[in-house]
Amino acid sequence: MTNEIVLKAEALKKHYEVPRGMFQDAAMLKALDGASFTLARRQTLAVVGESGCGKSTLARLVTMIEPPTGGTLEIGGNQIVGADRTTLKRLRPKVQIVFQNPFGSLNPRQKIGAALEQPLAVNTTVPAAERRDRAMDMMRSVGLRPEHYERYPHMFSGGQRQRIAIARALMLDPDILVLDEPVSALDVSIQAQVLNLLADLQERHDLAYLFISHDLSVVKHIADEVMVMYLGKPVEQSSRDELFANPRHPYTQALLSATPVPEPGRKKQRTILSGELPSPIDPPPGCVFNPRCPIAFERCRGEVPELLEADRTQVACHAISQTAIAS
Ligand SMILES: Nc1ncnc2c1ncn2[C@@H]1O[C@H](COP(=O)(O)OP(=O)(O)OP(=O)(O)O)[C@@H](O)[C@H]1O
Ligand SMILES: [Mg+2]
Repeated sequence: MTNEIVLKAEALKKHYEVPRGMFQDAAMLKALDGASFTLARRQTLAVVGESGCGKSTLARLVTMIEPPTGGTLEIGGNQIVGADRTTLKRLRPKVQIVFQNPFGSLNPRQKIGAALEQPLAVNTTVPAAERRDRAMDMMRSVGLRPEHYERYPHMFSGGQRQRIAIARALMLDPDILVLDEPVSALDVSIQAQVLNLLADLQERHDLAYLFISHDLSVVKHIADEVMVMYLGKPVEQSSRDELFANPRHPYTQALLSATPVPEPGRKKQRTILSGELPSPIDPPPGCVFNPRCPIAFERCRGEVPELLEADRTQVACHAISQTAIAS
């Protein structure tokens, strides 16, 4: 079944307690403050937003590196909140992650062949000869050559290293790949090659992607669905086509107008974001976006907007829910 749901998150939260010095209580930093979404096979959900909005935090929860502090997270039909260690151990291989800088995850003293075989050696009883065959097959399917098996990470280009990281992530046959800025460190021409490879692998392995990126031109290229985050909260969620054609949230509009996405025949209205991103330790009351929002009004400064259905999209904005009710 290609459209099978492989992950379901509801009101997912990660709050960190951060010390504020000797005479003050610890503060609560809401790195992720309620995200709800599903991932289906062969589907790509892109997560976008400025630095510090909680994208990597979400990645750490979905990959079970850290437990959530609130909400629920179902992976392959199993609830992982409160799950025992055996269940988590069984589920972990199902979700793999690829980082922006694959150097961080590749051991400089380990040959590529050994790096690819390691997940099989650690997690399975597959014998050595078969591990080698599987590594060779995977290298071929990500566009590496057999002689690369004996080489070390430093002998590869950035694009090739990212291919290695992707190959390694696929060795345990996961259902979900979390890609945290996977092409952000690459030249534009190499970006396109890696994105095409990812699209091809998604089809062949029935993968669901959670694709984190600050680059909307990349997102426009690969996403099916998009979640826009601001200060730990999703502010708009819709299909890629809907989001780019008709962005509703003032923050989404600002993000889009700051990115040069080629759109022939369409004159762009620019929304410039004023002000700094507020501190997540001390977020503004009401809508967290209100101090920078060009259309904020009284209600926005006092009441937190919920993410609500609004004509083919979900958006958390009082200005939009107000007009939807009025019309
Ligand atoms: N372990 C932690 N303890 C306390 N605060 C944390 C921790 N990890 C992350 N944070 C805070 O949570 C917020 C979200 O961080 P996160 O790394 O998820 O952002 P991001 O969207 O991935 O940013 P970037 O685009 O820069 O990668 C930030 O304010 C960060 O400082
Ligand atoms: Mg990050």
